[in-house]
Amino acid sequence: MTEDVKKQLLLNADLPKGSKKPLRKSRSLKKAGSGRTQKKAKQSETVATPPTTVPAQVKAPEFDVEVAQDVVFKPNPGPQTDFLSSSEREVLYGGSAGGGKSYAMLADPLHGLNHPNFSGLLVRHTTEELRELIQKSQELYPRAVPGIKWSERKSQWISPRGGRLWMSYLDKDMDVTRYQGQAFNWIGFDELTQWPTPFAWDYMRSRLRSASSMELGLYMRATTNPGGSGHSWVKKMFIDPAKYGEAFWATNIETGEEIKYPAGHSKAGQSLFKRRFIPASLFDNPYLAESGDYEAMLLSLPEHQRKQLLEGNWDVNEGAAFPEWNRSIHVVEPFKIPSSWTKFRACDYGYGSYTGVVWIAVSPSEQLVVYRELYCSKVTATDLADMILDAEAEDGTIRYGVLDSSLWHKRGDTGPSLAEQMNMKGCRWRPSDRSRGSRVAGKNEMHRRLQVDEYTDEPRLVFFANCTNTIAQLPSIPLDKRNPEDVDTNAEDHLYDALRYGIMTRPRSSLWDYNPATQRSGFQASDPSFGY
Ligand SMILES: Nc1ncnc2c1ncn2[C@@H]1O[C@H](COP(=O)(O)OP(=O)(O)OP(=O)(O)O)[C@@H](O)[C@H]1O
Ligand SMILES: [Mg+2]
Repeated sequence: MTEDVKKQLLLNADLPKGSKKPLRKSRSLKKAGSGRTQKKAKQSETVATPPTTVPAQVKAPEFDVEVAQDVVFKPNPGPQTDFLSSSEREVLYGGSAGGGKSYAMLADPLHGLNHPNFSGLLVRHTTEELRELIQKSQELYPRAVPGIKWSERKSQWISPRGGRLWMSYLDKDMDVTRYQGQAFNWIGFDELTQWPTPFAWDYMRSRLRSASSMELGLYMRATTNPGGSGHSWVKKMFIDPAKYGEAFWATNIETGEEIKYPAGHSKAGQSLFKRRFIPASLFDNPYLAESGDYEAMLLSLPEHQRKQLLEGNWDVNEGAAFPEWNRSIHVVEPFKIPSSWTKFRACDYGYGSYTGVVWIAVSPSEQLVVYRELYCSKVTATDLADMILDAEAEDGTIRYGVLDSSLWHKRGDTGPSLAEQMNMKGCRWRPSDRSRGSRVAGKNEMHRRLQVDEYTDEPRLVFFANCTNTIAQLPSIPLDKRNPEDVDTNAEDHLYDALRYGIMTRPRSSLWDYNPATQRSGFQASDPSFGY
């Protein structure tokens, strides 16, 4: 042993406890660093007069709790811990603002990032919101996974052992194609109610697979506040089916039935996977709750926002465009519609998103009865025409159909438009009114229709109980925050749009409106090409 090495060993033997901790930049440690300078001065004194008789010993540095917590993320007790330890396939951590939801979302993939086969995807709705999350991850990840690297070009974290976490955005439904052919064992959606429909969430479920799924598990995780354009479907998927905090078998949000393995599968008939909702509260997060400032800010919000953001209340639906909706008067048990009643249909078509069709009968008192609905996705215009004609086989005469007028637009080719394709199949349509102001006029007419008529004592618009999608959609459509005259067009509103096109084809008329002087000259065919 050289003199130098001997000296070094003796030096280490005498060092004060915990002095081998790595130098850190955090504020708390800077303070400790100033102490260290004094200690160093002391050490140099020791070196000057080394005790010759003390043998070299290796002492483990004392475990410093503060330093350890600074390095590794420590979940807040309660819901944040529950979220991070949950084992169900799909979990939503939702509730009041500031509860530590997004932070927990960032911490969740840390359990697997050190595994070479870990493949995770964390999405936000837009790129700007994503930036904020990336910034937070840059504070947390390098401390939690030493050596982890951020690739700006790939928007990806790569751990030294090869685990990957892609941080991306998913705005339009069509953005899901970016993830086509990819496989993930962990997928996270931050602020889930920002997605107006469940399309992206459902699609991404198909990307959840991994050769190492036995070791790593397969997880979909989401966080959110109540409110937002997706409030209604998120509530149906995670909040309504079970008591808060309890795991339950996943259900189809349209039918409410449990999702089962299909016929022919070895597990045919068994339930597919579990979901769970974990409620969050600001008071679970000491990092924000303690000062009381954030709470005071939330307390100052208007009542419905305060209920959603401070109390995490999912039942507040203020901001709903049609607060007069009342299930007990607007929903009726189906009955046989007399053949003398006029029937017509209305449609809002969307291939990538959804198509909504409603069939309406007009009673002698001009009450509109929505007696059937069709709500589907990924159906071509010609297939839709067939489905509609099949559904109407027993209906007798359908006087007319009204369809979103944009379907008459040619889409970069010279062939027939989608509307023309349907017309050629015998499913005839006339175009809806899409002129300026028609959306607002349609909303006003919807309000008038939902009112109880003072002569008949009944609402002017009712729905058969079997029109479950329309019944779910209409009361949950939010108002447009920037234009309270209209509904929020980001919400799931295809059936509402179809209904709006439909009710706007019925003139408001009553015996008292009849004016023989103006009636004839004022007549105008609402659609010149069809003459009615
Ligand atoms: N376990 C934790 N350890 C350290 N800091 C935490 C922890 N949990 C939360 N925080 C801190 O609390 C702050 C607020 O948490 P976060 O942003 O996750 O709340 P949120 O519920 O997503 O809020 P919002 O509803 O506004 O999106 C975070 O920025 C973070 O600094
Ligand atoms: Mg958040």
